[in-house]
Amino acid sequence: MSALLEWWKENQDDFPWRETKDPWKILISEILLQQTQAKRMIPYYQRIIEASPTPKAMVENGEEYLLKLWEGAGYYRRARYLFKLAEMCQNGLPDNYEDWLALPGIGPYTAAAICSIAFNLNVSCIDGNVKRIISRLVGHNITKFSEFKRIADQLIDKARPGDWNQALMDLGRNVCKPANPNCDDCPLSEGCIGKQDPMSFSTPKKVKSKLMKVDCLVILGKDGTLNIRRKASGHLQNMWGFELTDRNEASFKEEEYCGNISHAFTHRKWDIDVYAKKTAKMLIVPGDVPMAKLDQKIRDIVLAWDVKRNNS
Ligand code: ADE
Repeated sequence: MSALLEWWKENQDDFPWRETKDPWKILISEILLQQTQAKRMIPYYQRIIEASPTPKAMVENGEEYLLKLWEGAGYYRRARYLFKLAEMCQNGLPDNYEDWLALPGIGPYTAAAICSIAFNLNVSCIDGNVKRIISRLVGHNITKFSEFKRIADQLIDKARPGDWNQALMDLGRNVCKPANPNCDDCPLSEGCIGKQDPMSFSTPKKVKSKLMKVDCLVILGKDGTLNIRRKASGHLQNMWGFELTDRNEASFKEEEYCGNISHAFTHRKWDIDVYAKKTAKMLIVPGDVPMAKLDQKIRDIVLAWDVKRNNS
């Protein structure tokens, strides 16, 4: 067995999606893992596979139910694509790379992860972590995807491609990290040219996020109900929330000011002044609807403002 797989046997992260070969479950884990840290995704994974153990069950539960389970995980478009994929695959999931790649929300990385883990197919997963490992191994800053792919395909363990890919993922996360790589504990260190100066084969540039200064006016009904609505478009499409408008301080009264919120998405940072206006007219009031963190923050700041006002 190769040094990497030896290392992985002893040091692999203990994730629940590693207990199955069911492509549906692996798919759900991989979509969730396209987002932030793996550990944070564990409860989402567990809830979603329990509620929807098959694509058919997911479709029967409806998109809004999936969005509700996804609430707080961010990147809601991925949930919408997953739902679309479930609709297309109610009679069965593909078992080859090309057919996976043709499905909504599935790129080369995710298709390779699913095919290697669930079907033992020989396809390399290449993401930022794997690119960093490869650049360090060969001691040069590769830029072309085809070059990464050529090297990754040479390295992969052809008998255990799924384990190999996951071992690289764990190595990138825990050992060959962007900052402070732990070369002393690395199973690949013997053949690694970059270990003399690993930080010079490092990280992709951070994208600068754009700051958006906006207002949000929340209407409160007499009983505190909010004018929340389902978003028809944009990156939070089909989630529920509030409308944001260009900042226009002149149009709101000071006593209607509830507070300020900052919230960051990948490429955008929001700075939102939140106002609330009491009105007798009630717009809606859905109970258990899916809301992104941003809208939850707006809701909470308005409700706190309202309680304070009613008590004073
Ligand atoms: N990141 C992406 N896919 C992963 C997996 N299967 N295990 C751990 N981390 C991952």
